[in-house]
Amino acid sequence: MSSSTTRIQILIIFMLVIISLVPFLLPLYQYEPNNNINLKNKNRANGSQKIIKPAKQSTNALNDKKWKSFLNDLYSGAAQSSHTTRVCEPGACAPLRYFATNNYVEQSQQTPLYYYIEPNLDATGRNGMFASIPSRPWHESSITPLDPYTENANDLVRTTMERRYNDLVQSDSNSNNALPKFLPPQFPQWDRSIHEHIVAPDAAIIGMPPECCPTSVVHQHLTKNFSKDNVLSDEELKDCTCRSPRNYPIGNDGENINRPTATLVTAFYEMSSKHPKKMYEKTSLQLLSTADPMIIFCEPKSTWVKFFTEKRQHAPTIVVPMSVSNLRLLQHFPQETFWKKQFEIDPEGTTHHKSINTKLYLLWDEKIVLLQSAAMLNPFNTTQFVWVDTGYWRNPAPHMYRQSAMRINMTKEGVTDESMLLYQMQPYNFDREVVISGDQVLVGGNCFSGTYNGIANMYSAFYETFWAMAATGKFVGSDQKVLYRTCHTYPSACHIHKPPKGYRKWLNMLGLVLPDLGEKVGEPLKLTSLIEPLKHLPIPPNGVVDDATSTTIWKDIPKD
Ligand SMILES: *[C@@H]1O[C@H](CO)[C@@H](O)[C@H](O)[C@H]1NC(C)=O
Ligand SMILES: *[C@@H]1O[C@H](CO)[C@@H](O)[C@H](O)[C@H]1NC(C)=O
Ligand SMILES: *[C@@H]1O[C@H](CO)[C@@H](O)[C@H](O)[C@H]1NC(C)=O
Ligand SMILES: *[C@@H]1O[C@H](CO)[C@@H](O)[C@H](O)[C@H]1NC(C)=O
Repeated sequence: MSSSTTRIQILIIFMLVIISLVPFLLPLYQYEPNNNINLKNKNRANGSQKIIKPAKQSTNALNDKKWKSFLNDLYSGAAQSSHTTRVCEPGACAPLRYFATNNYVEQSQQTPLYYYIEPNLDATGRNGMFASIPSRPWHESSITPLDPYTENANDLVRTTMERRYNDLVQSDSNSNNALPKFLPPQFPQWDRSIHEHIVAPDAAIIGMPPECCPTSVVHQHLTKNFSKDNVLSDEELKDCTCRSPRNYPIGNDGENINRPTATLVTAFYEMSSKHPKKMYEKTSLQLLSTADPMIIFCEPKSTWVKFFTEKRQHAPTIVVPMSVSNLRLLQHFPQETFWKKQFEIDPEGTTHHKSINTKLYLLWDEKIVLLQSAAMLNPFNTTQFVWVDTGYWRNPAPHMYRQSAMRINMTKEGVTDESMLLYQMQPYNFDREVVISGDQVLVGGNCFSGTYNGIANMYSAFYETFWAMAATGKFVGSDQKVLYRTCHTYPSACHIHKPPKGYRKWLNMLGLVLPDLGEKVGEPLKLTSLIEPLKHLPIPPNGVVDDATSTTIWKDIPKD
């Protein structure tokens, strides 16, 4: 408590000092062409340089000028070294964000596509030129909560996300002339195609106003298992107003806010022929019965589009047909080379993952791309976002039929705005080698949640770690293992919930914690020790990578 108050005080004093210094500092941070980003020499400007007087130019114009100058150098190959150096104590660096140059330039210019690191970062990876640029075209304080019962709710959802999508595209296309309004696409995304699929006309917006009995899935399933816990009471059965979605969480002051506070995001791609389709249908139904808004990615033209659309008539939903080949990690990293090699180095390759389809690896790693992209558009105007595997529930989950799956306010329960809530599945002990190889499962990848900021921070942390591991020959085919190293490198991204009793409670996150059914979010697990990020790491090439460890990628870059 007191330490955070002190921190805030220090922060305020620090900000006041900075504000009073702004007029003097600006010339120092003027971008200097032909200088590689060298984080150790922060104060390179000296008296012999031409100083632009800030009084005569607005900060915006000045920043635009520095930005354009940076871009010119980037395109001419002079701006940036192919790697960067950060110096900080283990756990104290911010994750590097690899942004993409835009592809909206006229064809004639033939601008190559690059990933680059934001200019002018300090040695800890913070306070660069993009420091005050948001990545999303909305803010919590400005959103009007979704009312799924209004007649034109579907249209509202569509216009909401279309407007936001257009804002992003507009920002990208203007970004050659001015500092972008929103952050450019970030590795492993180089464009907005995932967003484009979400807003595409063939993405069905359904479940509003909610359709009620007797088509609601609620009935069919609760009564299949005659255990007392699973059967709806007579009273419940007779209640032919919607069971779902009515049981949304209670607001801060106990008022019944009667609106969803979270969007659940999931993806389903059928990859194994081992299990009959019927089994997937049965398991997914438990999840699909919930009242929370959902965004579901699935293969276009497959029977799954129809299936999901049918089963979600009762609650706000967007079914997004998007081919597996559109997954960003598949476009960057080919299955025949990169992911095949991953299979060869999979520590579980001969046991658990023996007959795995390597597409599963990349789907696991892609979850945060899908979650983050959905949250960026936030079609349902919620303040929290939850990833959940479609097959999360193998057994009946009665609470999913009766109420919303997400009934807590994570922030109120102590999850800071920059962290994602994760569930600890295994006992923890620190071993540096194991952390570096990532060969350990600590948290579950089947369900995790965050506010927009928490997800955005995890996105940066996760994909930078993914790239660092891939480029150094580590196994990255399991999101749970990449998360292990991510949390040790960028601890602020992770709020690891400790299970109160025993491990391997794979179903407690969505079974108890999020629906507030008796397991409270606790103090985060304290990691015994942390690791520093790699000092030298190539910037990922914007293109196909067959082998991230190759000498072409590591050309002229020292290894740590
Ligand atoms: C000042 O800057 C000029 C050109 O940028 C450079 O040649 C010179 O060495 C610098 N002097 C000092 C004292 O850093
Ligand atoms: C979301 O909030 C924005 C900003 O208040 C509003 O314009 C929009 O209509 C809302 N969308 C929905 C689906 O309620
Ligand atoms: C029926 O549901 C109960 C309670 O959820 C569960 O304990 C039991 O295993 C289920 N039985 C079957 C046959 O699925
Ligand atoms: C969640 O809790 C935080 C902190 O108490 C509060 O500021 C925020 O308004 C709450 N969000 C909602 C949607 O109630």
